[in-house]
Amino acid sequence: MNSTRIFLVAWCTFGSAIVTNSAAAERPRLKDAFKDDFVVGAAIGEDQIMGDEPKSMELVAEQFNAISPENCLKWESVHPEPDRYDFEQSDKYVEFGEQHGMFILGHTLVWHNQTPAWVFEDEQGKPLGREALLARMRDHIHTVVGRYKGRITGWDVVNEAVMPDGTMRKTKWLEIIGPDYLAKAYEYAHEADPDAELYYNDYNEWYPEMRATTAKLVRDLKAGGARIDGIGMQGHWGLDYPSLDQAEASIVAFADAAGKVNITEVDIATVPDARQYRGMDISEDKELMKKLDPYPDGLPDEMQKRLADRYRDVFTMFHKHRDKIARVTFWGVHDGQTWLSYHPVPGRHAYPLLFDAQLEPKPAFDAVIEVAE
Ligand code: GLA
Repeated sequence: MNSTRIFLVAWCTFGSAIVTNSAAAERPRLKDAFKDDFVVGAAIGEDQIMGDEPKSMELVAEQFNAISPENCLKWESVHPEPDRYDFEQSDKYVEFGEQHGMFILGHTLVWHNQTPAWVFEDEQGKPLGREALLARMRDHIHTVVGRYKGRITGWDVVNEAVMPDGTMRKTKWLEIIGPDYLAKAYEYAHEADPDAELYYNDYNEWYPEMRATTAKLVRDLKAGGARIDGIGMQGHWGLDYPSLDQAEASIVAFADAAGKVNITEVDIATVPDARQYRGMDISEDKELMKKLDPYPDGLPDEMQKRLADRYRDVFTMFHKHRDKIARVTFWGVHDGQTWLSYHPVPGRHAYPLLFDAQLEPKPAFDAVIEVAE
């Protein structure tokens, strides 16, 4: 366990005892509040799946009727070496979803991130050719999707293939296979589990050029015979971006192109953008830390209110388009596990979700529930 994880586990273990069963029994539930609209999910991580955070898993069962895997079904986790698959975590993930009768997402099969370098190389470390990479992709998809055939409800088959300027992302998949790598991925996933729903998933989709390319891409794939049941919009948003109009335009365009939209990875950043410091250790720079980690001792009331207002606005828009939206999933259960605390720089305190690190509902939770009432 690295220091970030120790910090996060300590942060939330400290508080988990505070939640009483009676308070939990009385409060509203997201999955019930939106039961006529869309399923409501949370992404769960290794500690939760492996049993180290039983209280937060109780919260998942209480509040949500869909789960996403933070990491355990990504290529590097489930297929770390050419001849080795590791299904320990993903088996438990799927079992949990089944025990609670949940929508179970598979995430993700073909992506440029968290995919080991060997995937694109031969035994001598030279770049693979098109046919060899297609064979490797097919084998991976058949093995992973096939294992959970009839159990995983739907798959994010391809993640993040389009850029904000509307061009295709220059990934190894595109470089080696060519633009039909997407059609092939959907073909293999459908072969492996003909009943599973298949999705395309991405972020930044409110940029007009990206919206247009994504909608066209999905239309073309479907016209070519691919099964695609929906487009996922990740929803890693901020307090003031995207505008509701921009996001709404994409929801409408994507529902038109794909049939359904899933909002797949919602969190609303309360920490400043720190992408320019990606991967750096900035902990010694006190001034910079103060700027990038403005609320180390908890989110002030006025910020709680801003977050709640933003969540109210965003969910009001989702609710308006409930005929187009099948699922809304948060990227995490509670603030103690959010990736924004350790990415793009470690050691920050981010509060992007509806439950705090003590597993208590925040004002943003009440704001979201009110939208459904
Ligand atoms: C992307 C991926 C997710 C996850 C998040 C950040 O949005 O789709 O799997 O890695 O980034 O944690």
